[in-house]
Amino acid sequence: MAKKQKKSKAKAAAKKSARKVVKLSSVKKDKSGNGLPKMSSKPYGRAGKALTGVRILDFTHVQSGPTCTQLLAWLGCDVIKVERPGVGDITRGQLVDVKGADSLYFTMLNHNKRSITIDSKHPQGMRVLEALVKTCDVLVENFAPGALDRMGLTWERIHKLNPRMIVASVKGFGPGPYEDCKVYENVAQCAGGSASTTGFREGPPLVTGAQIGDSGTGLHLALGIVAALYQRNSTGRGQKVLTAMQDGVLNLCRVKLRDQQRITKGPLTEYSQYGEGVPFGAAVPRAGNDSGGGQPGWILKCKGWETDPDAYIYFITQAPVWLAICDLIGEPTWKTDPEYATPRARLPKLKAIFARIEQWTMTKTKFEVMDACNAVDIPVGPILSMKEIAEEPSLRKTGTVVEVDHPTRGKYLSVGNPIKMSDSISEVTRSPLLGEHTDEILKDVLGFAAKDIAEIKNSGALSAPKKEEKAA
Ligand code: COA
Repeated sequence: MAKKQKKSKAKAAAKKSARKVVKLSSVKKDKSGNGLPKMSSKPYGRAGKALTGVRILDFTHVQSGPTCTQLLAWLGCDVIKVERPGVGDITRGQLVDVKGADSLYFTMLNHNKRSITIDSKHPQGMRVLEALVKTCDVLVENFAPGALDRMGLTWERIHKLNPRMIVASVKGFGPGPYEDCKVYENVAQCAGGSASTTGFREGPPLVTGAQIGDSGTGLHLALGIVAALYQRNSTGRGQKVLTAMQDGVLNLCRVKLRDQQRITKGPLTEYSQYGEGVPFGAAVPRAGNDSGGGQPGWILKCKGWETDPDAYIYFITQAPVWLAICDLIGEPTWKTDPEYATPRARLPKLKAIFARIEQWTMTKTKFEVMDACNAVDIPVGPILSMKEIAEEPSLRKTGTVVEVDHPTRGKYLSVGNPIKMSDSISEVTRSPLLGEHTDEILKDVLGFAAKDIAEIKNSGALSAPKKEEKAA
């Protein structure tokens, strides 16, 4: 009996110390009686992180899900990544650049997390998973459709174990004809409308380097999770949050759906195709480097373009600075010439106008063009290579590009948290090794007694199957 009491006391203490959940009832109220929390007297940046106290059961892999949970970890969540014993997230071993070390693919998507290995298809593994479900606030997953259910973790089961749990999923498609399909980045870019509207009119559809299908969807999901956590404060219960990659990409392509409706009313006059006299078809065409807004823009060559593939600049002929542009490129008569003086007059001649501006940009480096243009408020964007971005001191200073140390791969560069908050400072810590935190999570987070831990471990639920077993 005494032993039993001791055990449950230890369990409770472990639970308490590990969760560190900020209970609403423990937040000091403002004296005015308005029900708001008392304003912190701590200096800015010292009052914890925005999502401190939120614990995530991170059942994600590859890119979309890990992007989401990494963002949440930067914002202060305790993110516990569940990985398959012996294998882990498949990206650990993909695009390997340092033999024997986790790849950059993995390390750059899993900062600030803890890793536990669990075979979810083993009864003892499910015992640990269920304990995690009971103690976490959010389960995030991006398995193929139906995989979570096949493990036995249906919404009903999860909700029964922990009615407050939020279950957040990335899937390729929402409900409909393709809901059972597996999806990767470029599939989503194609199905979400991005590829058909990217590239040059004369060429095939193009995918973009920005991972709008994976990382973009992870970002959407993170917002859904934060909103669900906020709503839980008033409802007291969890909910399902679903972001389909097709939907996420389409949301980022919303200006193209805008144009799809406009095209039925007449030509898209800001597309250079209009100025070139090429008729529009039934669907929004690829627009090359045309700007997606009302201010015409194009990518122009700069000094050195013959040998440097990134010696280019994006130049916007914004109407309010047209006079400054004319002066800069040496065409002062265009300021008053009715053929050039108004945006409407310029529309059919944009190709020729940009060719003239390019004659000027080709006399300067992209950074010289940037200096000259910004001095008179002309918006331009130098085409920065990844090498230039990696070496840019200002990005290092803000923590957008950070150097991280890792025990098996050494120092590497990563992208830090792009969301800067004045009272919730994020630091970037390295990604976990496979199963690095298994013991501490079993003991400190879940409060399992040594005997139970031994039982679970001996069952093989947390370790890779031995070679002979694998072969059998
Ligand atoms: N223990 C035991 N089994 C595990 C496990 C664990 N810890 N973690 C995963 N598994 C199992 C799953 O249960 C599943 O088994 P099942 O098919 O028998 O049910 C299996 O591993 C494979 O999972 P799955 O998600 O199908 O992986 P995949 O490599 O075949 O497919 C994707 C990868 C990304 C295509 C797919 O997960 C997917 O479409 N996800 C949703 C969309 C998405 O996020 N895509 C972008 C990824 S960046």
